Amino acid sequence: MAMVDEVVSGEAVAGEQEFKLGSTLPGDRKDFAVSIRGLVNRFGKQVVHDGLDLDIKRGEVLGIVGGSGTGKSVLLRTILGLNVPAEGDIMLLGENQRDLDEGDWRRVQARCGVLYQSGALFSSLTVAENIEAPMREHSDLDDDLMDQLAALKIQLVGLPLNAGDKYPSQLSGGMKKRAGLARALSLDPEVIFLDEPTAGLDPVGATDFDQLILSLQRSLGVTVVMVTHDLDSLVAICDRIAVLLDKKIRVGTMDELMRDPHPWMQAYFHGPRARAAGMGKTERPSGDGHPGDGHRGDGHGA
Ligand SMILES: Nc1ncnc2c1ncn2[C@@H]1O[C@H](COP(=O)(O)OP(=O)(O)OP(=O)(O)O)[C@@H](O)[C@H]1O
Ligand SMILES: [Mg+2]
Repeated sequence: MAMVDEVVSGEAVAGEQEFKLGSTLPGDRKDFAVSIRGLVNRFGKQVVHDGLDLDIKRGEVLGIVGGSGTGKSVLLRTILGLNVPAEGDIMLLGENQRDLDEGDWRRVQARCGVLYQSGALFSSLTVAENIEAPMREHSDLDDDLMDQLAALKIQLVGLPLNAGDKYPSQLSGGMKKRAGLARALSLDPEVIFLDEPTAGLDPVGATDFDQLILSLQRSLGVTVVMVTHDLDSLVAICDRIAVLLDKKIRVGTMDELMRDPHPWMQAYFHGPRARAAGMGKTERPSGDGHPGDGHRGDGHGA
């Protein structure tokens, strides 16, 4: 830690003005999973995003953090075209909603999987029926094939096969998250958006879920955009981290963010929970190893 502290104070002395973490990347915006320029979101007089830029590379795991109410969920909804922003240019998988008719935009949406913050499985449908719901909406597969595909997704997320016949109320919290993930994977998406997938899980369950997301990303090559308050997830599985702060976004690797002198960044990335998560010493695992050392925050920090 001593070394990190030295770097931080050195940067801080150099002045906050000189420390700038960009949120855009070089290259053609059409090649990115997501590319946002000049996003403004307002609700009445409340400005949530003000000139926000963000590029998300294909195949990366991007973590999104920020205090409660900073607009993380609104950002995901805006990217997916579920919230119409006041201003800004948003590309999803190289396509811009305003250039497309409704049908074409729905086809772009169908290339994305989403696990909402509330989980939101249909309570009146079994797990298998939940997973099949997007297939029914976006394809004309026959029932047998849909059943087989649902069984495949159920196995993919590590649920027992008989979970397919269960209703959400019959599942544990961790199983519900997995079922929600299976539904997000229903249409073999190119990018999945996860809004606080590990909130409410116990530490072991959360670590297992992180590993599941990482292994899916590796085996399927899917881009993962994950909102989380969970510092262990950030350390364990994210390639880069985007921080919503002052109505804009700063993106960097863990090491870069730890050097950001902004007081919120210092408090977040150097606080006791960050230290418990082993920040600044734990590398993203390159093999199939277990991340961290068993420490895990309460999942509701910052
Ligand atoms: N449809 C809406 N109408 C009015 N205000 C909204 C709407 N959606 C979001 N907001 C406001 O925008 C702000 C950002 O909300 P958002 O849900 O994105 O926060 P968040 O960063 O996801 O917070 P949390 O970490 O608690 O989930 C909040 O102040 C919220 O009240
Ligand atoms: Mg939210």
